[in-house]
Amino acid sequence: MINVGIIGYGYWGTNLVRNFFAAKDCCVKAVADERPERLQQLKKVFPGIVGVSDSDDIIYDPAIDAVVIATPVFSHFPLAKKALLQGKHVLIEKPMASSVEEAEMMIDLAEQNNVLLMVDHTFLYTGAVEKMKQLVDHKELGNIKYLDSTRINLGLFQPDINVLWDLAPHDISILNYIIKDRPYSVNATGITHTNNDIENIAYLTVNYNSGFIAHFNCSWTSPVKVRMMLVGGDEKMILYNDLEPTEKIKIYDTGYNHTRDEDKKLILVDYRTGDINVPKLSTTEALLGMANDFIGSIQAKKRPKSSYNIGLDVVRILEASNKSIKQNGCEVLLDQPGKSVKQNNLEVIIQGNGNSLYQ
Ligand SMILES: NC(=O)c1ccc[n+]([C@@H]2O[C@H](COP(=O)([O-])OP(=O)(O)OC[C@H]3O[C@@H](n4cnc5c(N)ncnc54)[C@H](O)[C@@H]3O)[C@@H](O)[C@H]2O)c1
Repeated sequence: MINVGIIGYGYWGTNLVRNFFAAKDCCVKAVADERPERLQQLKKVFPGIVGVSDSDDIIYDPAIDAVVIATPVFSHFPLAKKALLQGKHVLIEKPMASSVEEAEMMIDLAEQNNVLLMVDHTFLYTGAVEKMKQLVDHKELGNIKYLDSTRINLGLFQPDINVLWDLAPHDISILNYIIKDRPYSVNATGITHTNNDIENIAYLTVNYNSGFIAHFNCSWTSPVKVRMMLVGGDEKMILYNDLEPTEKIKIYDTGYNHTRDEDKKLILVDYRTGDINVPKLSTTEALLGMANDFIGSIQAKKRPKSSYNIGLDVVRILEASNKSIKQNGCEVLLDQPGKSVKQNNLEVIIQGNGNSLYQ
């Protein structure tokens, strides 16, 4: 049995407590929240779970093996650092940290203390994303050419992070999970309509050397809610609509071929449209799958699906997107593991991997 303490019983913490309560081999010992009304709510729903106002009561409790952090992003690093130093396994909400530097420090601490550090990228545990990965891995779509995602609604303006940091972690983690290639650069633009320097509409492009391209449209200012992703290959294309209750994935047998007419200096494109296939998907609650993966990975000392590598890559892309937005969309490079350097007036941000048992 793994004893868990959860810090933060707000919107998402409520879902985490419910799912860790149901997870295998797990006992939720305590939940911390600074707001007394949240602890009252906890007592109503889970009278058997101890509620505390100070997160230290969880972090320094020797009976607690693992700490789950579901607080606003700016507090992820200080709370995770304390918990890792106490030798606790840590599950941290997305996005993992406010900067690459913080994320890398957390990874170092997890490795030094030989504990599991995992990030809750919940979408990786959905039947829809698992199906998309299978289709891409098995080359069902042919050669993958693009991923295009729209995640817009009339959303809560966050006081500390922009719309990309709030919404795009979901899509970037899906991109990272299903596409094996490494991106080399990003371009991003965005705008704030509240004059507080926090963009409420933003567009991010992630560029690859292979000819694949990914694009993300995020907004808190859309009158309609859209959660849609296209993944296109040269043989088939997927439409993923997360708002569909059952038919979330549609596979279009649609493709194109192009040939070059050297005499006329023309590119000739042939289009093909065929059937639309709707696969059956697993309907297990994603968050329960995530909670079981966290507990199971601690027990088996294995790397979880939503590993810190994905968490770090997401923060790396988000940090680069901030730089690009501040430079009016200029290209910001993402390159080899280890460092950050300047090259030809472009910021080169270097991708890296850790070396722990759990990495
Ligand atoms: N995985 C997902 O799909 C998903 C969805 C929503 C939110 N999130 C993430 O979850 C995190 C929390 O978001 P939220 O929407 O639940 O926020 P929220 O503001 O609703 O809840 C945060 C709670 O943490 C408490 N808190 C903050 N600092 C604390 C501390 N030091 N000690 C004890 N309690 C503290 C606050 O009182 C609040 O109740 C964010 O990182 C967010 O990005 C993830």
